[in-house]
Amino acid sequence: MPNDLPTTRRAWRRTDDYAPGAPRLQLVTEALPLPLHPTSVLIKVHAVSLNYRDANIANGGNPWPVTPHGVLGNDAAGEVVAVGDRVRFLAVGDRVAPIVDTANLTGREPGRSWLAADEDGVLADYLVFDEDKVSKLPDHLDWVNCSIIPCAGVTAWSALKGVPIGKTVLIQGTGGVAMMALKLARASGLRVILSSSSDEKLAKVTRQFPDPPIETVNYRTNPAWEEQVLKLTNGEGVDLMVEVGGASTIVKSMKCTRRGGIVSVVGYLSGPRSEDLIELIPLSIDRRLIIRGIDAGSRHDQEDLCAAISATQLTFDDIIDSVEPFESAEEAVEYIWQGKQIGKVVLKL
Ligand SMILES: NC(=O)c1ccc[n+]([C@@H]2O[C@H](COP(=O)([O-])OP(=O)(O)OC[C@H]3O[C@@H](n4cnc5c(N)ncnc54)[C@H](OP(=O)(O)O)[C@@H]3O)[C@@H](O)[C@H]2O)c1
Repeated sequence: MPNDLPTTRRAWRRTDDYAPGAPRLQLVTEALPLPLHPTSVLIKVHAVSLNYRDANIANGGNPWPVTPHGVLGNDAAGEVVAVGDRVRFLAVGDRVAPIVDTANLTGREPGRSWLAADEDGVLADYLVFDEDKVSKLPDHLDWVNCSIIPCAGVTAWSALKGVPIGKTVLIQGTGGVAMMALKLARASGLRVILSSSSDEKLAKVTRQFPDPPIETVNYRTNPAWEEQVLKLTNGEGVDLMVEVGGASTIVKSMKCTRRGGIVSVVGYLSGPRSEDLIELIPLSIDRRLIIRGIDAGSRHDQEDLCAAISATQLTFDDIIDSVEPFESAEEAVEYIWQGKQIGKVVLKL
């Protein structure tokens, strides 16, 4: 390894202090795990995008266990600056992103190891990963655009699988996964219905994506929103639902998905429990639904998504809410916790 490489890094670790007003994160300087393992690479990070998951973990709400005082972040893009002796597929200068579940390379591994929960995340200026756990990024995208691929991107990609051109998809909300799903659905020739709690957000997105027009539903002012979706689809329902609400929305989502359609279960924004869940089994049988859990995706999925983005020359500037300096992580996580964003918030290094 060349001598001029760093031996320490800066990383945002959780304080695990959930008292009102207490900082949720702390910027620390710590030693890098050097020398590199023979199959590992050292990555200089250029951008990290934040997800609802980061805000939830920082505030102690993750439904799965997290390691104490772990580094936050799932979504980073950077450049390989050093490689171990036995690295075969990557070279210095390659543009890469770690996968979000580092135990999911092919989709068939039985375990899981999510960044920022089971192991340290990627909100740091340097990262060390085994080369198996990263994939190359599309050449035409800048670092900010690349940084939204591993978590929001791969999740949206996995959630949309299985519906051909011309079919109808309902995308819930205007957050990161939703806006990524919107971009991928449009690029795939799907008809999009978008739901949001805010007419203002819906108006902004429909102005941004005018052709063909996006149909919209406000789930807050219209609590029976599933009926509105049925009306928009001649009483049949959508072919696929990108479900982010969880316990309080899944039954309604099932009611407005067509017989034999797919409900991609992505999020748990409404909490763990709801009375409605009593209807889940009869409804899934009656409507012959495929209820599909989404766990981001494998390295293969990330590679496939990058190939699709390269083939379509898709870019994502129009779904970036804001770009902030790395040093503003605490404020950026709080902004997401308050749900102020449309699309992605990215920290640049
Ligand atoms: N399974 C996976 O692999 C995976 C991967 C990534 C994320 N997730 C999960 O997916 C969810 C969304 O993540 P994200 O990063 O996109 O979050 P985000 O950027 O914070 O966006 C969340 C948006 O969802 C909408 N929303 C909130 N509560 C809702 C409800 N009860 N019903 C319908 N929509 C609601 C809101 O949109 P409006 O303001 O427009 O109403 C909100 O802005 C989270 O639960 C996250 O943990 C899962």
